[in-house]
Amino acid sequence: MTGNTEWWRTAVIYQIYPRSFADANGDGMGDLAGITSRLPALEQLGIDAIWLSPFYTSPQRDAGYDVADYCDIDPLFGTLADFDVMLTQAHDLGIRVIVDLVPNHTSSEHPWFQAALAAGPGSEERGRYMFREGKGDNGELPPNNWESVFGGGAWTRVTEADGTPGQWYLHLFDTTQPDLDWDNPWVREQFRDILSFWLDRGVDGFRVDVAHGMIKAAGLPDYFPPVEGGSMGGGSATLEPAISTEPPAPAPYWAQDGVHDIYRDWRELLNTYPGDRILAAEAWVDPLSQVAKWVRPDEMHQAFNFAYLETPWNAAALHSVIDASLEAFGAVGAPSTWVLSNHDVVRHASRLALTAENLQGHGIGPKTPGLPDPVVGLRRARAATSLMLALPGSSYLYQGEELGLPEVIDLPDDARQDPTWFRTNHERYGRDGCRVPIPWEANSPSYGFGPSEQSWLPQPTEWADLARDVQIGDPNSTLELYTLALKLRREHNLALGAVEWLDGYGADVAAFRNGDVIVIANTGTEPVDLPGGDILLSSEPLDGRVLPGDTTVWLAA
Ligand code: NOJ
Repeated sequence: MTGNTEWWRTAVIYQIYPRSFADANGDGMGDLAGITSRLPALEQLGIDAIWLSPFYTSPQRDAGYDVADYCDIDPLFGTLADFDVMLTQAHDLGIRVIVDLVPNHTSSEHPWFQAALAAGPGSEERGRYMFREGKGDNGELPPNNWESVFGGGAWTRVTEADGTPGQWYLHLFDTTQPDLDWDNPWVREQFRDILSFWLDRGVDGFRVDVAHGMIKAAGLPDYFPPVEGGSMGGGSATLEPAISTEPPAPAPYWAQDGVHDIYRDWRELLNTYPGDRILAAEAWVDPLSQVAKWVRPDEMHQAFNFAYLETPWNAAALHSVIDASLEAFGAVGAPSTWVLSNHDVVRHASRLALTAENLQGHGIGPKTPGLPDPVVGLRRARAATSLMLALPGSSYLYQGEELGLPEVIDLPDDARQDPTWFRTNHERYGRDGCRVPIPWEANSPSYGFGPSEQSWLPQPTEWADLARDVQIGDPNSTLELYTLALKLRREHNLALGAVEWLDGYGADVAAFRNGDVIVIANTGTEPVDLPGGDILLSSEPLDGRVLPGDTTVWLAA
């Protein structure tokens, strides 16, 4: 929080994945009381806000992104009273709290969907979801060719009350996540109430899940070429054009113009509340000029910068994605955001050293080609984060990256829980490897995740060495690197600064000045001579004034 600026323009927002952050009751599943107990550690790290992935009532078929009651807490995570305690304590520590809103779909166990199943074709209740008749002589074929992001078809046929095969419903994700019909005013009304419920409780904002998917093209046309279903829902099925300039033709279920009316309406609602409450879009759309539509002045405040996340560790690519981001978001008066990891992607301490293409959401496992060298991966991750935290705007961190956690590659097959793993017949490993409960104390059960040995995904034994209590106070640890970067970022006002590129360091180096700090990132292998200026931060220990490969420094300008 700097000066009089709205906090979200400069904030470092730390993503908590409640299942895996801290477990207060020892059942192996993280919970709200666990989060509360660890808030002081986050204050010490120096973040401005937390974003919590879903903790709502849910059958947990997609780790809580399948919501059965938007206004209550799943008993796995605690109670509304636990939420209030967590919120108050976060606020007391000066930490804002953003919650996850999942409006594209509900759980199939949500009472609205159960009522829709019971009420039958043509009913008001079915009109809240995307029910359609099938094709073929007996309606035995799905209404169109859309595929689920998690693999397999995007339609499931129901059995009607009389036992006959009936209509089909759309689910862009798992079968247990039916899409709502956002053309229906009743649905819009319900979500206004849900937003108000959490705003009244005092939350500082919402991260909006699948914010590019809520409106589908009229008539639900087939999509050609058929999507691979591989990306987390970008306009294209591959990672390819992270910073392309031409928008690819959007799939009929992504990035339809109608979504923007929804966010204008929500913005008006947020504006009626005191304080700066925010909306942050999860919109896997490209290029960045399209993403910027989500953050026009009367819509959302922030949108995740997935083009940045998808950029390889390469100076030229970083230079262009940073320019493209600042230009696209700047053009609509929004801050750029930056992000390297979240609960859907391979952790960047592994991803940046992958040697083969890996589509978002596919994950990595023992049989993945081109598995990362962990030493190279961590080194690049430290350098990449040091670069990111020097950029103007708002940055997102994902729990555990401050400890340098890698992706867990060798989870036993029977421990995996991501629907992607099941829907692709184990062809895609999915996202469990970035969701393993994080280590706090080397010598405690479950490495301090909770008071028992239990943890819903098994933790690697090597994680003892990465526990927070081992790293704290060690100047070479990743935790201390993050803590220092966040402190300097604040002290030098980098989040409100500007990027001024510096030439002359060679093709493998990205170098810029931001205010009174010079940032030099060497993405290659050849050492580079450093100019004068006190060394404020270095992602690796330096030997003299030479910057080795895969290292970033901050110098006093
Ligand atoms: C994006 C979320 O981040 C992901 O975890 C979830 O599976 C899908 N949306 C569906 O809600």
